[in-house]
Amino acid sequence: MTEIPDELVAGLRDAFSVVVLTGAGVSAESGIPTFRDALTGLWAEYDPMELATPEAFAADPARVSRWYDERRMAVQKCEPNAGHVALVQLEQWLRGRGRKFNLVTQNVDRLHQRAGSVDVIELHGSIGEWRCTETGAIVNLADRKEALEEYPVRSACGGLLRPNVVWFGEALPYGVMEKAERLTGGAEFFLSIGTSAEVYPAAGLLEVARYQGGVKTVEVNKAGTVASGGFKWCLRGASGVILPDLVGQVVGGG
Ligand code: OAD
Repeated sequence: MTEIPDELVAGLRDAFSVVVLTGAGVSAESGIPTFRDALTGLWAEYDPMELATPEAFAADPARVSRWYDERRMAVQKCEPNAGHVALVQLEQWLRGRGRKFNLVTQNVDRLHQRAGSVDVIELHGSIGEWRCTETGAIVNLADRKEALEEYPVRSACGGLLRPNVVWFGEALPYGVMEKAERLTGGAEFFLSIGTSAEVYPAAGLLEVARYQGGVKTVEVNKAGTVASGGFKWCLRGASGVILPDLVGQVVGGG
């Protein structure tokens, strides 16, 4: 069992509003590589500037499309883990008592939604959706098992299709960050789970929570991060273990 302070459990049980921010770590136990873990992270093997920028896509759309299509298919084979499920349980328990729960994720894998989370705020888009670079039309590939026929792929109008994810140097989808900030600023609890807290603007939600006053902050991560010093509580370990323990104690207490 994870050592979880009583004050944290009691506070969460009584909280009128909870905001959770998740990152790649929450999906690690589902078999999806994180970005920055030293040996297993995607950015340890690949250069993000060659794959995750508009410039990279313009220079070599076939390469970038193939890489994202392979990731799209890999994500499809993965299942939500106990951490995703625990967040659904917390959401349902709080909402069932008339309290607010909002989940903000940097992940593009939709595992939260597949676990049963609703109204998830996706800061970085979704890898199962692709978007026409000419018209902006969205093509849903989330259920497609096979690889795309060709790389790069074109939509009916002749425009190139690209994954509907946010690349380095791009703006976030319209309004999502503002919504996440508004919810965080008005929350009683802010939990940051499985994120290195190195990528802005998402990482700035902790500052919103801290400086808005009165927001209690919790980090769940298997390691310390650049942001750890700013949290009231840090729970160290795998989210697939800690979250079921934490939520079990909150929900089990009445
Ligand atoms: P990172 O790869 O930067 O960080 C993952 C974090 O998860 C690290 O702090 C790990 O210690 C932690 N971690 C790993 N396994 C864990 C587990 N089982 N339980 C708990 N924690 C665990 O991923 P993000 O912070 O999500 O952006 O990265 C942010 C953004 O950078 C991503 O959304 C992506 C990337 O570039 C875009 O694609 C726009």
